Amino acid sequence: MARKGVAFRMFSMALLLGIIASIPRSVDSIGVCYGMSGSDLPPASTVIGMYKSNGIKAVRLYCPDKAALEALGGTGIRVLVGAPNDVLSNLTDKKAAESWVHDNIQAYPSVSFGYVAVGNEVAGKAADNIVPAMKNVHSALDKAGLGHIKVTTSVSQAIVVFNEPSGANFSKEAKKFMGPVLKFLKRTGAPLMANIYPYLTYAYNTAGMNVSYALFTSPETVVKDGKYNYQNLFDASVDAFYEAMRKLDVSGVPVVVSETGWPSAEGKDATPENAKIYNQNLINHIRSGTPRHPSPIKTYLFSMFNENQKDKGVEQNWGLFYPNMKPVYKITLLGTTAPSPAAAPALAPAPAPDSLEEC
Ligand SMILES: *[C@@H]1O[C@H](CO)[C@@H](O)[C@H](O)[C@H]1NC(C)=O
Ligand SMILES: *[C@@H]1O[C@H](CO)[C@@H](O)[C@H](O)[C@H]1NC(C)=O
Ligand SMILES: *[C@@H]1O[C@H](CO)[C@@H](O)[C@H](O)[C@H]1NC(C)=O
Repeated sequence: MARKGVAFRMFSMALLLGIIASIPRSVDSIGVCYGMSGSDLPPASTVIGMYKSNGIKAVRLYCPDKAALEALGGTGIRVLVGAPNDVLSNLTDKKAAESWVHDNIQAYPSVSFGYVAVGNEVAGKAADNIVPAMKNVHSALDKAGLGHIKVTTSVSQAIVVFNEPSGANFSKEAKKFMGPVLKFLKRTGAPLMANIYPYLTYAYNTAGMNVSYALFTSPETVVKDGKYNYQNLFDASVDAFYEAMRKLDVSGVPVVVSETGWPSAEGKDATPENAKIYNQNLINHIRSGTPRHPSPIKTYLFSMFNENQKDKGVEQNWGLFYPNMKPVYKITLLGTTAPSPAAAPALAPAPAPDSLEEC
């Protein structure tokens, strides 16, 4: 009885302080990427049925796939949709952007669009098109009365160079386009989307790191960064983005993790067991945020299926499900199990690029 009393008072206090709201909402923070580079995937209507039956409330589509968008209508599943790299130069034309929005967004009034990601890991000369394209898509959405849909771009972790978050910088090449990109995001209240893969950082430098730092299973601090203690590479990578932004005098642009995951086969430490450990720990972890930003992190798991049209080897093995819809491993997508502790130390090397999801 006494215990109940205390619990109840704490609950009321939490309500008063308004902090309770962040607890139950955390399950909404996880989405799953729906990559389509497979010749043997189920039809979109079946796939969206799997999202529903697994309680997945958000999806990332790499392009405005008609069948997927039709299946998503009326489901309430939040959609992050890509304007793929090959339409970027077209979108620098105002009229082309209006017609893209007309055909791919306005055409689906019962779809709950949350974000449009203009470009995915755009690099080189094409990066000059990101901001003009984002501006045109933003204006076109506004004009269509859809200004609540945020326009952003998805970047590779490879654009941030760091050992510990406080020392993070955007690469020399990325600095050129990230300045204007961040200015646009700040002005429009949109987040930056980043594809963050502790697995890749680990796999490219296994000698420099204990796998537990990448798997969220280190029992202790691995990287001490001033007053901030990092026990996992995911947090360090997210905070590296925030610190790199700070060096460009940008604050208040949140980071959304637009891809992360762990492969289950054909790579260093790529097993169903490790993939399950990473993804389950991730789901349980993101609600509490990072040492520098302790609030829930919107995150999209990569990916729904193993995709046989990606590069041979590890790239084909990032799925939660096989194309025959059987799970690769058992995972609680709504996040109810506690993370399990295990191992320890080393430092994060420069992140490595990953292979791109295409439409
Ligand atoms: C780009 O625009 C041109 C001219 O309007 C059009 O012919 C072409 O199909 C567009 N490309 C894409 C990928 O949408
Ligand atoms: C990061 O950038 C800052 C400011 O431009 C510079 O002072 C610092 O030396 C850079 N750090 C590294 C590790 O390159
Ligand atoms: C990683 O850390 C764990 C626990 O701290 C330890 O048992 C394991 O031997 C370490 N692995 C390597 C390769 O050092």
